[in-house]
Formats: sequence, structure tokens, C-alpha cells
Amino acid sequence: MTLLEKDQKYIWHPYTQMKTAAPPLPIVKAEGAWLTDEHGNKYIDAIASWWVNIHGHAHPYIAQRVYEQFLELEHVIFAGFTHPPAVELAEKLIEVLPDNQARIFYSDNGSTAVEIGIKMALQYFYNKGEKRKRIIAFTEAFHGETFGAMSASGDHDFNTAFADHLFRVDRVPAPIGDRIPDTFEQLEALLQTGEVAAFIFEPLVMGAGGMLMYSPDDLDKLIELCHRYGTLCIADEVMTGFYRTGKFFACHYLNNQPDIIAMSKGITGGNLPLAVTSCSAEIFDAFWSDDKKKAFFHGHSYTANPLGCAAALASMELIQAETCQNQLKMIQESHQEYFQEIKDHPSIVDIRQTGTILAIEFKTDGQTNYFNNLRDRLYNFFLEKGLLLRPLGNVVYILPPYCITANELRTIYDAITLALDTLVNQHETSQT
Ligand SMILES: Cc1ncc(COP(=O)(O)O)c(C=O)c1O
Repeated sequence: MTLLEKDQKYIWHPYTQMKTAAPPLPIVKAEGAWLTDEHGNKYIDAIASWWVNIHGHAHPYIAQRVYEQFLELEHVIFAGFTHPPAVELAEKLIEVLPDNQARIFYSDNGSTAVEIGIKMALQYFYNKGEKRKRIIAFTEAFHGETFGAMSASGDHDFNTAFADHLFRVDRVPAPIGDRIPDTFEQLEALLQTGEVAAFIFEPLVMGAGGMLMYSPDDLDKLIELCHRYGTLCIADEVMTGFYRTGKFFACHYLNNQPDIIAMSKGITGGNLPLAVTSCSAEIFDAFWSDDKKKAFFHGHSYTANPLGCAAALASMELIQAETCQNQLKMIQESHQEYFQEIKDHPSIVDIRQTGTILAIEFKTDGQTNYFNNLRDRLYNFFLEKGLLLRPLGNVVYILPPYCITANELRTIYDAITLALDTLVNQHETSQT
């Protein structure tokens, strides 16, 4: 049996209708921004492999650091034990996180980092004997796959089967366009009940909801409003962290800081699963007690895995080096130039950019959701051109590894322009 035949026999892939989806691409090697399949075909990874990859694939320095760590200590239980990579990484993260962040809680994926943030906020009030149990989130939010994270996410088609089992979360529209006054009005009305424990949000860019973007100024005011009513703020930086928006964390664009921050994806440069939920001293202090029941009873088998921490430390070093910082500048300028070049294209409904993320909303026949069939045509069109782009419905976005070159970016832009010139018209013709 070939690799693909065995895959089709034994494996169940994520976010995939196994019956109708095309067979997956067997990738056997990767280097920099490029993936190579078993036939030697190459693809530019223009979405950083689901937003995790930062320095390119198979980075030798990160590989070396992980290998060295492997020979010293591969893993140890993190309750009652500690180890150098976890401590060093915590110290480094506290240095670069917003000033109010004081403690690092480790886990191993973005959904879990969010789940932990929500649990911390709820238990914070429980430990203090305050009756605050409600959570607020944006209508268009996406926070992950576990039940708490799904509850905090908006009404996405992929969560419908679980709708009856999700806990109640109050929703306000994201502060975009003419809905901005509604966001503030609805948020304040909810806060006035005095029952809201936390407001959770993806700062500046809402990823899976369609790369929706909103202003730091509005977010600053929303955080201020929450704090005025004693409500905690949880920033889900799972996608936006590690310079994705141009600063280390999207929260660095703000004056008012969240109380809790969830991060994962780019933390190890996309090399190993690791996540962190950081919090302020005030949150931590509500768990600090002689009463054992006030402890935070949460932990995973792979909490603070030393290999993940070693990869994160190596990635942090690379990210702060001049080479990476110059690349970030180049990507942002390059996106801006393409933005100007294409913005008036008749097949574009909207184009938006924050930092290294460029999102282009394609004109459609009105169906704009995740299952829109223009999405599949675009996905296949780009793959045939040697590009991994995974449109969210009719939104094509570029979210590249920071090692990408100007020429590779140009290849991606040209393919998008060609798709705008040809595919949208074809799509309309085939609908009529
Ligand atoms: C903002 C945000 N939060 C949480 C998650 C969940 O992360 P993970 O897939 O690692 O569980 C995602 C994943 O896309 C995300 O974009």
C-alpha cells in the first residue's frame, strides 16, 4: 500500500469531510517556507501551517536546541517538580509580556490555553466569594475546539451539533464599521448587571471568523469599560502573539491591558505543541491561600514539556534578532504595496491588513460562509499553483512564516490577482 492508501485506511483528518474531500497531500520534507510532497512537488506554506510556523520549517537552530534538550531531560511531571527550560521561558515571557502580567501557567494547545483563562477568571471570583459567573465574547469570535472554547466562540456552522451542550455566553458584536456604537452599548448594559466575570476577545484580528480586524483604540476603550465595572479581560493571543500583528503581542498596541492572556501557535515557532496562559498578580493572589480548595486544580500530562519549552526559547531568540525583525518589516511593507496595487479590483469586497496578515474578501453570489463552494475552488486553484492558502469562506488571507522572501510573496500576490481576474467571473457564470 502507498502512504496515501494507508492514510485513507487508518486516519481521520481534522476539519475534513472524509467522504468528499480530495485525498491529503503527503508531505515528506519541508525547508524554510516550502513544503515538498512525495513526488517532489513544492508548495509555499503561505498560511504558516495553520498559523504556527514563524521561522520556516525544519529550522536547524531550533532542531539543535530541541535535540540538546532531549539528551538532558525529555519530560517530567510538572506538579511538584520543575525544570530549567520552563523556568527560563517563564522569565523570558514575563519580560516581553505587557507589564501587568506576572505568572505563567503552561499547557499544550490554544483551546486549552483559552479554557484555562476562562477557568481562572471564574475561580478568581469564586475564591473571593463574589457571584460573578457570566462571560461576554464577540459574536464573530473563534476561541478553539474544547467545550469552554466552543462556548466562547460565535455561532459557527462547525459547532451546531454541540449547541445544546455549550454553556451560556453573552455576545456583543465586534467593533467593526457601523456596529461600533452597538458594541459599546451592549457591553455596558451587560456589565451593569454586576454579574460578568470576564470579557474574552481576540485582540485586533479575529482569525477563524474571517480575519476580521478592528482598531486598538476601540479595544482599549472596551477594556477600560470592563475594568470600570470590575470585569476581568481575557486576551486570546493564540493567533496574534509572537509578532503576527507587527508587535510582540497585539496587546502592545493598547494602553489598557488584559488581566489574562492565552497564547500558543507561534510560541515554539511552530515546532512542538505548547501553550501558556499568563495572568496578573491580582489573579494569582486570589488563589494564594492556606485553604487547599482555593488552588487552581488544572493540569495536563504534558504541562511545560521541556522540549516544547526549549523550542520556544530558541524561537524567542531568533524572533528578537535583527534578521527576523527586518523580515517582519519587509513583509508588512510588501503587504501594504500589494494592498494599494489591488484595492480597487472589482472582484474585491474588502481588503484589510494588520501586521503580517493580509486578508482579501472575494466578491461572491452572496453566500459568504465557510461552506461556500468558491472556497474549494480557490483552495484547489492555489494548490495547483504550488501555494498553500486556505481561504475562510470567500476570504483569502496570507499569514506567512517570517522567513518568506519578497519573491515568494510576489508569487503569492500574482496568484491571488489571477484568481480575482478569473475565478470570481467563472464562479458567477457557473451560478447562473
Ligand atoms: C484565536 C484562537 N484561539 C484558540 C485557537 C485554538 O487553538 P488550537 O487549535 O491550538 O487548539 C485558535 C485556533 O485557530 C485561534 O485562532
